[in-house]
Amino acid sequence: MTTPTIELKPSAHTLPDAERAAVLANPGFGRYFTDHMVTIRWTAGRGWHDAELVPYAPLSIDPANMTLHYAQSVFEGLKAFRQADGSVAMFRPENNAARFQASARRLAMPELPQELFTAACEALVAQDRAWVPSEPEQSLYLRPFMFATEVGLGVKPAGEFLFMVIASPAGAYFPGGVKPVSVWISEEYVRAAPGGTGAAKCAGNYAASLVAQAQAIEQGCEQVVWLDAVERRWIEEMGGMNLYFVRRDADGTECVVTPELSGSLLPGITRDSLLRIAADLGYRTAETRISVEDWKAGTADGSITEVFACGTAAAITPVGSAKSTSAEWTVGDGTPGQVTMRLRERLLALQTGRAADTHGWLHPV
Ligand code: PLP
Ligand code: COI
Repeated sequence: MTTPTIELKPSAHTLPDAERAAVLANPGFGRYFTDHMVTIRWTAGRGWHDAELVPYAPLSIDPANMTLHYAQSVFEGLKAFRQADGSVAMFRPENNAARFQASARRLAMPELPQELFTAACEALVAQDRAWVPSEPEQSLYLRPFMFATEVGLGVKPAGEFLFMVIASPAGAYFPGGVKPVSVWISEEYVRAAPGGTGAAKCAGNYAASLVAQAQAIEQGCEQVVWLDAVERRWIEEMGGMNLYFVRRDADGTECVVTPELSGSLLPGITRDSLLRIAADLGYRTAETRISVEDWKAGTADGSITEVFACGTAAAITPVGSAKSTSAEWTVGDGTPGQVTMRLRERLLALQTGRAADTHGWLHPV
């Protein structure tokens, strides 16, 4: 089977400059989409075929489309950033390509070759380059995804899939700037269990999370924090972000700690980047289990000084307070911590070409 190529096409289908400028002035998150999209089909026995870059448009779906019933659907999220010199680069698309394959494997879906994933993202960014915003904190969010297109109600891996990439200009994920979020520790609902789909980026994980997110809001918090399914004790991650803790150790030095990959939390690419950035900045780092009791005790004795969440959409967001059914506490003094803001600044500088790309994370388009 050959790997299809994606051709850029001159297109008359573009939003007028003034309308695009109005969108880019205040894009929000995931509200507006660029002029084009990529589509690539997969059919059992034939493999990947018909790779196209086409005008953004609705799809027509059969009511018995298998995805609508059984959720064979995976996605990715990555960003293209306007660089300090005006050029455009994607951040670590190769890592998203690899995770997309891992998610597909878990959902019994075909694996898109990594070069084709990256080429599809690249083609869309190149075609819709004018949509990459240039203000600080802005970016073009890319959403590659794949779902079953076979029609039928039998429960089995589908024989036909559609891979697509769409793009959406993005401002800050949480409106209101770098403002610490409050979190609700979910003791009733569980996001993912050992052997489940927690480490895959599949649509069903997000559907299953929404009731707990609604509970967090009812409790006066902004985001939900998930615990492990077995002991309901170990901190896993948030609804769409990984978590980090800044711990001051007995010798007075700071250690940047994140929950170890348990098999049921998403191996975030921002999480991975920050382990390396923290080391570059001279912090010790650790991937380990952290319990709710550790968090509470560390808050009480002052050894946990900062907590923050990280992910593609939100970059780094400080956590200001936490609440569970039995307790409520403030992280540090409730304001963004120094280490958090230092890591955040370095991450954004690397993504936008204001710091040297020593890890080779930028993929110019
Ligand atoms: N955890 C979940 C559940 C997510 O949806 C995301 C977002 O992609 C992350 C963590 C962070 O991953 P990444 O840094 O690759 O965006
Ligand atoms: C991302 O950061 O890319 C996410 O997937 C988070 C959320 C928008 C689902």
